[in-house]
Amino acid sequence: MYFKNKFKNKKVAVIGHTGFKGSWLTAWLNQLGAEVAGFSKDIPTTPSHFELAHLDQNILDVRGNIVNYNEILKFLTDFKPDILFHMGANAIVSDCLEHPQDAFLTNSFGTVNVLEAIRHTPSLKSVVIVTSDKCYENIEWEFGYRENDRLGGKDPYSASKACAEIIFSSYFRTYLQFMPHLSIATARAGNVIGGGDWAANRIIPDCIRSWTKSESVQIRNPEATRPWQHVLEPLSGYLLLASELLEGVEGLNGESFNIGPKAEVNKAVSALIEEMQHHWKNVKVDIDKSHHLNKKEASLLKLCCDKALNRLGWMPTLTFNETVEMTALWYRNWHEIPVSVKEFTDLQIKSYGDFASKRGMVWTKN
Ligand SMILES: NC(=O)c1ccc[n+]([C@@H]2O[C@H](COP(=O)([O-])OP(=O)(O)OC[C@H]3O[C@@H](n4cnc5c(N)ncnc54)[C@H](O)[C@@H]3O)[C@@H](O)[C@H]2O)c1
Repeated sequence: MYFKNKFKNKKVAVIGHTGFKGSWLTAWLNQLGAEVAGFSKDIPTTPSHFELAHLDQNILDVRGNIVNYNEILKFLTDFKPDILFHMGANAIVSDCLEHPQDAFLTNSFGTVNVLEAIRHTPSLKSVVIVTSDKCYENIEWEFGYRENDRLGGKDPYSASKACAEIIFSSYFRTYLQFMPHLSIATARAGNVIGGGDWAANRIIPDCIRSWTKSESVQIRNPEATRPWQHVLEPLSGYLLLASELLEGVEGLNGESFNIGPKAEVNKAVSALIEEMQHHWKNVKVDIDKSHHLNKKEASLLKLCCDKALNRLGWMPTLTFNETVEMTALWYRNWHEIPVSVKEFTDLQIKSYGDFASKRGMVWTKN
């Protein structure tokens, strides 16, 4: 029984449920006994974790666009959720670079529509808006960014996520703080890996696409370091945040929370790939030395997660090796026994809960 059983029989809406994070969240909410309804524009990739795990079977599965206010309002009005997770976005940095208007329309204006619809959904008690670690103005320092550091972002994806945070702050201070039944917060995470991601231009999906064809993979920035995080880690943070907001715990409403790995989990891309190799057979890894670390491109953006620890008691569960092992094993299982994706996803969520429980994570305690 996790999160003090607060999701059992609750009506939970997930915007972006067909995506990478949304599909894992949907599977976890199913295990927690929630009644789930998902709202997404499309199935963003082929293959798709959402489809392979047959996640449409136990939920209300709705196609709609947050850019169209009436569609998102109708979804929330019809379903009458207690809890909402908003993770619908154009989440691919390179895609946003190519289509900046869509980035701002979806990630910024779409968030206006979601918040406006929230304002007109009286059933809602707890809401988590997912943005990104990229919402901070990256001034290239070596310290972790804190929630009150300057927002910014040069590229359209980052700027659109910073805009979403500013829009949230305006809506909260102008309207939402005066809704006594509602508690709402934003969560900022980044560099998520895990099974079931097939997005374009992300390092793990790129490897899997090559390795399943027994092709070598080109690594652009082998020395670049990133704070890698398994997808279930931020989800445990979002779920804990939502469950505490539901209780009306003080110090959370209207706030933003960084959700990231421990500082020592900053590892080079090459270390990530080498660790993946241990769990995936017969691969050739071609490290392209001509594209060595470009300092500007690889600048590190670390998060300071002390606020999540102090106010929620949240901290990450997995080591770097466990994070990569879980990721590689998921893809290997999918490749070898594709029919068992649903069972394997459920198994990994249970294993993650066991790890967290043994390590005394706050959300595993009664
Ligand atoms: N994956 C990461 O590493 C990462 C890192 C930081 C932040 N995030 C954030 O987490 C959230 C989820 O990311 P993800 O990796 O699962 O993304 P994803 O691309 O896998 O999924 C995006 C989801 O949003 C839906 N969507 C897109 N545009 C929509 C629209 N106009 N209307 C309705 N639904 C729409 C898609 O259908 C899909 O369900 C996003 O807000 C993203 O910015 C992700």
